[in-house]
Amino acid sequence: MIYDNHNRPITYLRLAVTDRCNLRCFYCMPEEGIKYLPKHQVLTYEEMERVVRVLARLGVQKVRITGGEPFVRAGLMDFLHRLAATDGLTDISLTTNGVLTAPHIADLAALGIRSVNLSLDTLDRERFRKITRRDELPAVLKTLDGLLSAGIQTKINAVVMDGQNTQDLIPLSDLTRTLPVDVRFIEEMPFNGEGSHYPILNWTHKRIVDEIRTRFPDLQKLPDPPFSTSANYQIPGHQGTIGVIAAFSRTFCGTCNRIRLTAQGTLKTCLYDNGVLDVRALLRSGAADDELTAAFLQAFAHRPLNGFEAERHSMQTGGSVSESMSTIGG
Ligand code: 5AD
Ligand code: SF4
Repeated sequence: MIYDNHNRPITYLRLAVTDRCNLRCFYCMPEEGIKYLPKHQVLTYEEMERVVRVLARLGVQKVRITGGEPFVRAGLMDFLHRLAATDGLTDISLTTNGVLTAPHIADLAALGIRSVNLSLDTLDRERFRKITRRDELPAVLKTLDGLLSAGIQTKINAVVMDGQNTQDLIPLSDLTRTLPVDVRFIEEMPFNGEGSHYPILNWTHKRIVDEIRTRFPDLQKLPDPPFSTSANYQIPGHQGTIGVIAAFSRTFCGTCNRIRLTAQGTLKTCLYDNGVLDVRALLRSGAADDELTAAFLQAFAHRPLNGFEAERHSMQTGGSVSESMSTIGG
């Protein structure tokens, strides 16, 4: 196992397989004018497999496939099949918006995909259309139903947005009454290609919990699993759980075990950093596995302590925190 310079193990890779998406979520992308990466700038599946192999040898056990929307990229299922055969990986999971996912659920279950995170911010069709700028709620609900029927552990990710979907906190929480689903509310971050939507974050972790308690006063705190980014809760008697991810407040950095590879092959050792290693350039310059390994170890030995330090450093080196989440992968 590899530990970083703050003694945190690095065991979890989030891999963005594309920056493209079939939705246009308000908190992630502007409505128009996003520039997708030209194809040759995106890592090939073969390049990603190689990176995963090298990282798995260094102790990475879990890979979460993200995007953009992973299912927008052709050949995803074949890639997952090959990935599943990587020595050392014990957990492959996936984050999807659910629009194109339903037809692949049986295959995902057969592959042993551990868990699927479904991005779903509202149960109201009109609000869904407004937030994602597409009318796809029925397809997403079909995916939710299919995932649960297939017995795949399912989390719903809902970004909490002032003035957009705070009325959904209660109905989304209420899903846990009859469904074995983990509903996770995420503080909105400024990763939308434009920068912060608000002067201050109104819907903090605490306010989200307070709002849920107005309807479910006996909401109970659960113990949090190691390396969890969510603070977890349950309404007594409900099947599912509720989590809150303080993605903006960044209270979970002390146990962060994750790294990210963006669609263009940039390594991030923090969500808020600017990219710390151009893995694509290394791969394409013919670097041997040993050289890749050395470059990763060097990056892990210089990880920022937390998201605030990473953000400060990124600003000082000409970066910004207005990148779109569609290239970072969440
Ligand atoms: N703030 C918080 N969460 C975001 N996501 C995308 N953009 C943002 C943002 N600006 C979440 C989506 C998706 C996950 C990968 O990242 O809900 O589920
Ligand atoms: Fe697409 Fe996810 Fe971004 Fe929404 S949040 S536009 S579903 S990549």
